Amino acid sequence: MKSATLHFEFHIPITALAMFLLKTWRASAFGVYGYLNFTRNGFLENSKKFKPEDMEIRLDGKNCVVTGANSGIGFATAEGLASRGATVYMVCRNMERGETALSKIQSSTGNPNLHLEVCDISSISEIKSFASRFSSKDVPVHVLVSFPVPIYNENEIPSFVNNAGLMEHKRVTTSEGFELNFAVNVLGTYAITELMLPLLEKASLDARVIMVSSGGMYSSPLTSDLQFSNGKFDGVEQYARNKRVQVAQTEKWAEMYKNKGIDFYSMHPGWAETPGVATSLPDFNKWLSGKLRTSGEGADTVIWLALQPKEKLVSGGFYFDRAEAPKHLNFAGTSQSHGKIDSIFDTLRSMLVSHDSKK
Ligand SMILES: NC(=O)c1ccc[n+]([C@@H]2O[C@H](COP(=O)([O-])OP(=O)(O)OC[C@H]3O[C@@H](n4cnc5c(N)ncnc54)[C@H](OP(=O)(O)O)[C@@H]3O)[C@@H](O)[C@H]2O)c1
Repeated sequence: MKSATLHFEFHIPITALAMFLLKTWRASAFGVYGYLNFTRNGFLENSKKFKPEDMEIRLDGKNCVVTGANSGIGFATAEGLASRGATVYMVCRNMERGETALSKIQSSTGNPNLHLEVCDISSISEIKSFASRFSSKDVPVHVLVSFPVPIYNENEIPSFVNNAGLMEHKRVTTSEGFELNFAVNVLGTYAITELMLPLLEKASLDARVIMVSSGGMYSSPLTSDLQFSNGKFDGVEQYARNKRVQVAQTEKWAEMYKNKGIDFYSMHPGWAETPGVATSLPDFNKWLSGKLRTSGEGADTVIWLALQPKEKLVSGGFYFDRAEAPKHLNFAGTSQSHGKIDSIFDTLRSMLVSHDSKK
């Protein structure tokens, strides 16, 4: 009897194979590094090096603006700053949720100097009217904490989106025409920071901006496709891309303002159990149940960055668990990509300008 042999041949372009392997490496390196460091155990281990006196600094008379302050890490940050005597401006998109959070913080801290500012950070128009309202107060801003936020929220479609059936894995566009994640995490963050700069300059030498990014950015290089216009849309990947932009943006601002007394830091809170994670990443939340950090532990490094004397910190640096952390994982091929940040700043600037001219 004759034996038969089957031959299969696969033709995969070498660049596609290389990209696949690189993406797989990034995802695996991020997963392992994250599991070891970003969970609660990582916090407990790293906290052995913490100095309690670092957190004993007071913020009386300092004005702090915290976006996304009614929930999760933003709430814990606002509470931590208020408990140290700061005047805190809580920027929330929903009046009712903001008022509830404000009164909780007022009763837990006894601090009467809390203010609610309603602003949807996905909207350039709202950010502009917030900024002009806020500027008329003429208060110097010492600390701006940016929690630009939606990890994809599957249960709540923002009211400006014209398609009630649209779900989280699809590409959602704001009424101003921008992809939603980008609108909040990148463009909104850029706009609110730029428009607050004159008030930050009033507090300069003391002024700082803290950008709450995410370790998720380790899995992505900086890309110029800001709104995920090419290829099949993936909300988790878009989030990682946005968070990478925030780290590169922080570096860029630090360089631009290095002689003007405003310092910029980005950070990763670790993996914390928050309403946002429960809604947007339910499987992840379930998988790591009992292993996630508390919101307070997630906020720890944000508060630490707000309190430390600037001489201890590196403007433009990325922080995790009260220490400077690498911005790139080994062999992930992401480090050269930050060279694109100048053209990304140009794009963001022109989006703001063209928004003005459309009105
Ligand atoms: N938790 C984690 O493990 C983790 C890990 C890495 C990075 N982070 C980062 O930490 C930050 C806070 O996340 P979280 O986990 O604390 O989430 P969260 O519990 O969902 O809190 C998010 C906050 O942002 C507000 N927000 C959302 N969209 C907004 C908009 N368009 N305008 C104004 N405010 C808006 C939310 O308001 P509503 O209550 O009205 O929705 C809420 O107050 C985010 O930047 C996230 O990327 C979190």
